[in-house]
Amino acid sequence: MSSEKRLNDYDTVSLSESGKHLVIIDQTLLPGELRYLKLRELEDIREAIYMLRVRGAPAIGVAAAIGLYVIADGLLEEGFSETPEFLEELRVRADYLADARPTAVNLRWAVDRMMEAAQSMAEEAPETITEELRKEALKIRDEDVDVCRRIGEHGLTVLRDGQGILTHCNAGRLATVRYGTATAPIYIGQENGYEFRVFADETRPLLQGARLTSYELAEAGIDVTLICDNMAATVLKNGWADTVITGADRVAANGDSANKIGTMGLAIIAKHFGIPFYIAAPTSTIDMDTADGSDIIIEERPGDEIRTMWYERPMAPEEAGTYNPSFDVTDHELITGIITEYGIAYPPFRESLAEIMRRKECEE
Ligand code: MRU
Repeated sequence: MSSEKRLNDYDTVSLSESGKHLVIIDQTLLPGELRYLKLRELEDIREAIYMLRVRGAPAIGVAAAIGLYVIADGLLEEGFSETPEFLEELRVRADYLADARPTAVNLRWAVDRMMEAAQSMAEEAPETITEELRKEALKIRDEDVDVCRRIGEHGLTVLRDGQGILTHCNAGRLATVRYGTATAPIYIGQENGYEFRVFADETRPLLQGARLTSYELAEAGIDVTLICDNMAATVLKNGWADTVITGADRVAANGDSANKIGTMGLAIIAKHFGIPFYIAAPTSTIDMDTADGSDIIIEERPGDEIRTMWYERPMAPEEAGTYNPSFDVTDHELITGIITEYGIAYPPFRESLAEIMRRKECEE
């Protein structure tokens, strides 16, 4: 595929025209190179998720769904013609895929939804089940676009034209199929003639804010200022941002929210300066089975991401230990509201999130 295309011309995650491949943007190469990867093998798809070639909670959910469909198609090619054996093989691969990253609940959510669709057709032939998986995966993708748009519309109600917004990591279009979650109100606002000034934390250690958020917002023509993570307090103290919005990888039933490491610190700073702190997340990120943040598994990543990555030479001696948690949990007491596709949940979150989930059930 052409590397001269603009990011905004494409969905972050899709199914190839032939229907044989999961297509993703290799986000590890951004912003220097816009390259698309066509993936079909289980190991390649899992590697792409683990290495953050595709990342962001909703995007890895959609990638896993489309990925599972192409894996099922591959099983047909390998000759799995008996349904029980086909489903068994698919289940093993689905679990392996879902374990690639533990914190973002969207990954397990999408895999479980695909396996439920497959299991509900246990009386059918593998070809029929595979066709159903194709439809389900595309449905999950289409829903993501719609859901993010609705998050944007709800989110826009708490913003005003001309204001400053601070965000962390990338909860943008690159973290979803289109629109993003934290960025959705910004994009929808832009469609409606709003002009925002966005501050993007660079987001150590993998620089999603620098490489991805500032890239996608700048390409979309949105005023974006990149700052190092340790500059956020100064920006908020200066009054340059009136609202903080981030995404989430898992929201517990009491509102505690796991998101990229550094989010908790940002929420504490926002509270100190009396600035509203919002989480923008689809209901697929809300995990009512997790009572509070202490039950959320936090992914730990290799120390070399801190020690050597991005540097021309190592910036720490090999003897130095490293601690590299990928996410932290922001206490619900620090969160002003959780913006979902069914409206904004406000404290007390146990009740308001339950109400949001009820609205979702009624619609389904
Ligand atoms: O490690 P990453 O890049 O997958 O982390 C992503 C985040 O923390 C996002 O903020 C979160 O997944 C929400 S994306 C809409």
